[in-house]
Amino acid sequence: METVLSGIRPTGHLHLGNYFGAVKSFVKMQEEYNCYFFIADWHSLTTCPDPEDIRQSVKTILAEYLACGIDPEKATLYVQSDVRETLELYLYFNMNIYLGELERVTTFKEKARKQPNNVNAGLLTYPTLMAADILQHRAKWVPVGKDQEQNMEMARKCARRFNNIYHVEIFPEPQNFYFSDKAVKIPGLDGSGKMGKSDGNCIYLCDDDKVIRKKVMKALTDNGPQTPNSEKPEIIENLFTFLQICSSKEAYDYFNEQWNNCTIRYGELKKQIADDLCNTVAPIRERILEFSANQDLLEKISRHGAEKARESAAATLKEVRQIIGFNPNER
Ligand code: TYM
Repeated sequence: METVLSGIRPTGHLHLGNYFGAVKSFVKMQEEYNCYFFIADWHSLTTCPDPEDIRQSVKTILAEYLACGIDPEKATLYVQSDVRETLELYLYFNMNIYLGELERVTTFKEKARKQPNNVNAGLLTYPTLMAADILQHRAKWVPVGKDQEQNMEMARKCARRFNNIYHVEIFPEPQNFYFSDKAVKIPGLDGSGKMGKSDGNCIYLCDDDKVIRKKVMKALTDNGPQTPNSEKPEIIENLFTFLQICSSKEAYDYFNEQWNNCTIRYGELKKQIADDLCNTVAPIRERILEFSANQDLLEKISRHGAEKARESAAATLKEVRQIIGFNPNER
């Protein structure tokens, strides 16, 4: 059975971008693949969060993963920092990747611009830690959103380079996995870019109906189309993306036709989106509350997941050490 791995940084709550870009695929994939889904708490240290915030966010994301439908009996669900083997592989990959290659990664350049006073080495080596996450389980498939494409390119480079340097075939080149024919990018509600927790433009899976409606109704629009069948500007295309992910094909076609013949009413469009998003989110929100109220269960699940993930990573690291020339039992 082929192996799948993916993760999410614990910074607050899961939003619709995480859900439609990643977690929805996780839930489908657990039925057919050997899956590892984890909470990337080490990765969140690049912004130096408060320890209590990390502790809380890890528990929150765990409950939210489960509420979305990840089944710990089918998939291995764990917290990154519970598997120390990852750090060793991270170190080996850092020895094989060049500074210039890491500096060229767009997300590094963006983060460096956003936090000019904290351009730390962890930010630079973010992709090699991600590669270690993936390759410690020799995962072949990684379900991620479009924003992770460059990090995935680096993970493939780590795999190829290690195999080439040591003349082995230990690591597969992990591939991005998309359920639809292309990568998903869920837009933000502020008219441009992507939905992202640092951008304050999110709908969260824990938002109640009132909050969701308010956020959708506030989304930016324009004066409406002036000529029939015109191209949609980005802010309007974004609203149609929401229709695509959460509404029926009939609803999409209805508003698309109205756009094309210049009769579209944005108030009506937003109401449709808000109704359909509320219907998607409400059952997940209810399950989040149930799982969050059962901390003992969360602890048990993460302990069990950590054991399984450690076992898989330890087997890989044992081979890797021998390949590199670290054979403690033969000295
Ligand atoms: P993170 O926490 O930023 O996002 C988690 C997942 O959600 C997807 N995503 C989106 N997809 C579509 N539209 C959006 N607006 C949107 N926002 C977020 C991301 O593509 C991602 O799949 N580096 C990773 C965490 C990570 C990881 C890994 C992922 C660490 N190690 C190994 C896969 C494999 C990150 O920061 O994701």
